Amino acid sequence: MASHLKWFALLAILMAHSGHLIPVKSAAASAFSRTISPESLGLRREKLTHLHFYFHDIVSGPNATAISVAQASNRPSATNFGSVLVLDDLLTEGPSPESRSVGRAQGIYASASQTEFALLMALNFVFTTGKYNGSTLTVLGRNSVLQEVREMPVLGGSGLFRFARGYAQLRTVTLNLTTLDAILEFNIYVFHY
Ligand SMILES: *[C@@H]1O[C@H](CO)[C@@H](O)[C@H](O)[C@H]1NC(C)=O
Ligand SMILES: *[C@@H]1O[C@H](CO)[C@@H](O)[C@H](O)[C@H]1NC(C)=O
Ligand SMILES: *[C@@H]1O[C@H](CO)[C@@H](O)[C@H](O)[C@H]1NC(C)=O
Repeated sequence: MASHLKWFALLAILMAHSGHLIPVKSAAASAFSRTISPESLGLRREKLTHLHFYFHDIVSGPNATAISVAQASNRPSATNFGSVLVLDDLLTEGPSPESRSVGRAQGIYASASQTEFALLMALNFVFTTGKYNGSTLTVLGRNSVLQEVREMPVLGGSGLFRFARGYAQLRTVTLNLTTLDAILEFNIYVFHY
């Protein structure tokens, strides 16, 4: 048995030197991938966190925080199909924009339905308060604006929200039909470590 192993080792060396690709089982420091324990990243118990805040989508006036960057030029549409906005919206603890700020929602939304007011939303929530200061959550989903409750997946996060997964539910608190400025209520349920 042992002599067989020696023979294989010798063959392996010869093949390596003659340019053949051979599988080498080694734990070299430069390995492209390896299995590690969750503890080695300080990950212990997964927990579920509920975040609750308000989102101020200001599309009108000189202080707009959501601005139109593109729209379909030759494609009239009752649902604004094709229009794209970039936002950097204030997030607050209460429904008033004067209440304590908890972060910003930065991203893009696009009118992505030809038959209803439904948006594709791609958002990074950047939190700036307490222990979550500097941590982010990433949400990508469909916002059918006229539905009472909309739900979007939480795809991941950074900082305290590493490995995050979950969902966000949003409701319209106020919508000014003249300016289209809106205040939305967010409830986010997220598993993370
Ligand atoms: C816009 O922001 C400036 C600076 O914060 C403020 O003085 C002004 O009143 C705001 N304008 C409106 C229309 O909200
Ligand atoms: C959040 O972190 C930034 C950068 O580290 C710091 O300047 C700021 O004061 C912090 N804010 C709060 C509310 O802790
Ligand atoms: C909507 O916005 C306009 C312009 O700022 C304001 O005059 C009006 O009072 C607002 N309507 C509501 C219902 O808040």
